[in-house]
Amino acid sequence: MDAHVAQTPVAAEAARRRTFAIIAHPDAGKTTLTEKLLLKGGAIQLAGAVRAKGNARRTRSDWMKIEQDRGISVATSVMTFERGGLVFNLLDTPGHEDFSEDTYRTLTAVDAAVMVLDAAKGIESQTRKLFEVCRLRDIPIITFVNKMDREARDPFELIDEIEKTLALDAAPVAWPVGRAAQFAGTWDLLERRFLPVDADDGAAIRLAGLDDPRLEALVGAERAAALREEAELAEAGLNAFDLEAFREGHLTPVFFGSALRDFGVGHLLDGLARYAPPPGPRAGDPREVQPGEDKLTGFVFKVQANMDPNHRDRVAFLRLCSGKLTKGMRLKQVRTGKQVPVNAPLFFFAKDRQVAEEAWPGDVVGVANHGTLRIGDTLTEGEELNFRGVPSFAPEILRHVQLEDPMLAKKLKTALDQLAEEGVVQLFRPLDGSLPVVGVVGQLQLDVLQSRLKVEYGVPARFQDTMWSMMRWVTGGKPELERFAEANRRDAGEDHDGELVAFFGSDWRRKRAEEEWPALRFHAVREQH
Ligand code: G4P
Repeated sequence: MDAHVAQTPVAAEAARRRTFAIIAHPDAGKTTLTEKLLLKGGAIQLAGAVRAKGNARRTRSDWMKIEQDRGISVATSVMTFERGGLVFNLLDTPGHEDFSEDTYRTLTAVDAAVMVLDAAKGIESQTRKLFEVCRLRDIPIITFVNKMDREARDPFELIDEIEKTLALDAAPVAWPVGRAAQFAGTWDLLERRFLPVDADDGAAIRLAGLDDPRLEALVGAERAAALREEAELAEAGLNAFDLEAFREGHLTPVFFGSALRDFGVGHLLDGLARYAPPPGPRAGDPREVQPGEDKLTGFVFKVQANMDPNHRDRVAFLRLCSGKLTKGMRLKQVRTGKQVPVNAPLFFFAKDRQVAEEAWPGDVVGVANHGTLRIGDTLTEGEELNFRGVPSFAPEILRHVQLEDPMLAKKLKTALDQLAEEGVVQLFRPLDGSLPVVGVVGQLQLDVLQSRLKVEYGVPARFQDTMWSMMRWVTGGKPELERFAEANRRDAGEDHDGELVAFFGSDWRRKRAEEEWPALRFHAVREQH
């Protein structure tokens, strides 16, 4: 437990929260692991819901047509479970490779992440991208090397790859005993226990050490000899686990297991409970907020429309940073100064909504509203305070939106404005008055946009290529910005908040612009507000 434990009820509740996400390349086993974690946390009835990708899933989430068509989850949900006196909030993220802006934003709302690797593949492209986002905030990362029941790469090689490709120290806390079909379990390097693959995770076998002759009886002479040699090498040559380095985001503890066979998941969960930090202080303007403060603060990291087809409202996902939330509170939206009533805060439990009685720092609640709340908004009990750090990423695909029926122009504008506020797409208005430009990180986001324009707003639209393949936010002194805008009217625009952006046809052109305008800065990431 943490040193600053718990003088006030708020501090005590904050200290028992663990709010985390799972990052993984598609197919590494995130869904399977999520399911097994929920099972351990007693949320058994949900296990099938997480897993179901076919018809079962569709019936549960028929609120969005695109989801039915594709059988993939576009929504981020929050799954809460309790274990050992702790409350775990698992913020789920869309796993599809192509649709990751939501994932990125979700990572601003967690205090730790579990990085799942496929033991045969190691670090993959999406793992690396997501890791980089975690690194922006130095989020502590626990690594779970999954699929140890199959042909796997050498653990030394995997650890070396983590260290080299991510520039992150890696410390094994478990060591695999036997490989593939011969995989017998793991040796807990910290607790000196053997965790056999065919027993419940709880049923660890404590030995005096690796020299204990019982090891042979447990795993056979060959595997015992290999383990002794490897564990000795690992202890001598690899990083030892260091809680402080982990909490600072410089070192990842590495667990080995098999989500499918439900092996190593309990060990991982124990690691999360023990090592992952509770909600910590959060940077804001003009001050940092401590989780134990009595007054409520929080920020919106996601907005979702139409989660429930019977209530065509929008739900803002609010991560609490301090204080206690109760039903019926009125909170101040700092950006506008407006009061936002929180009459029926929602806890998200997979796709089911539950009315929450109270929520604490680290928790995520849904606040129903009619479009008032935006991604990046800070809510307080009255204080003028803004949290930093909910980012927008420069989109990689830029398209003009073209109406099939020009009479619907006004409707299109409303629809695009709303969808941009929700974070479905980014919206830019070119300075020369040409058609609006939408920007997305992946192609799938365009499909989502097209479907929602048609289904929800009755505005069929098409996308037209632009000459651009990248954009940057431009900042600098006002006169210089104006000169830039004037000189680049055809390749510049404003984003949804009126910030100047520049479009480029190639990376070469971007570099040229940076050279030509040394007094300006070109940003690939923008923090909202
Ligand atoms: P994802 O959410 O990261 O995309 O991965 P998911 O859990 O869906 O797992 C991808 C595939 O890997 C699934 O197989 C799953 O059963 C398998 N898998 C997950 N964990 C393990 C493991 O520990 N060991 C082994 N051997 N396989 C694992 P699939 O055939 O694609 O799907 P399904 O037919 O099993 O549903």
